[in-house]
Amino acid sequence: MRKKIVAGNWKMNKLQADAKSLASEVVNMAGAEVSSDVKLILCTPAIHLDAVNKLAESSAVSVGAQNCHSKESGAYTGEISASMLADLGIGYVILGHSERREYFHETNAELTEKVNISLKNGITPLFCCGETLPQREKGIHFDFVKQQLTESLFHLSEEDFKKVVIAYEPIWAIGTGVTASSAQAQEMHKEIRNHLASKYGQSVADSISILYGGSCKPDNAQELFACPDVDGGLIGGASLKSRDFIDIAKSF
Ligand code: PGA
Repeated sequence: MRKKIVAGNWKMNKLQADAKSLASEVVNMAGAEVSSDVKLILCTPAIHLDAVNKLAESSAVSVGAQNCHSKESGAYTGEISASMLADLGIGYVILGHSERREYFHETNAELTEKVNISLKNGITPLFCCGETLPQREKGIHFDFVKQQLTESLFHLSEEDFKKVVIAYEPIWAIGTGVTASSAQAQEMHKEIRNHLASKYGQSVADSISILYGGSCKPDNAQELFACPDVDGGLIGGASLKSRDFIDIAKSF
């Protein structure tokens, strides 16, 4: 059985007091309302990780970062290493989000290093992939996404690969209010799973959670999560409200 996962990507939002309230609300509501077979992860701005992790400590809610540097340590002003995250007890990190690929020019090759250093430090990568609208319109979306996965993940041993979570996030659906239809999501998730199977075999591919991200909300999560190859969501905007985030987590 694959893990069902709903991860919130807070992006660059929330000041300290609001971050703590949101995290406490999610922790309390999750304990009361969300089935124990759904893994909840809060990916907060780095500056809130420690506080949120402490609030989530004795709960089933996990905490993740939104990025880490590709090197272990050194002269990289402003950056945060995977070992620093591990030292705080952070279990997850979003890697390769399209905003980082676009605004910070992260490449598949650099992401390979980030995936490696995260795994080396015992941190699970939530690895993002996804195409632009022009790529979809040209019909190259499957090949583009498969290339992202091949170039950043397919060097991994089977043992390491099994630790990775994948998030398919069509760029045209992120923060736009336009969601991929459940048919479009299922079609891509199936294509991704077949691609993983071609490299690691069907049983490994069947064990990997593939999340959908892009304007996922309480009113469309149920239909998306009902798709056989959609194992949960990476939630941006709707993760900033505890009620919406929890309702999404209850949509399986
Ligand atoms: P959104 O963002 O839910 O606000 O579209 C998703 C994401 O970027 O992870």
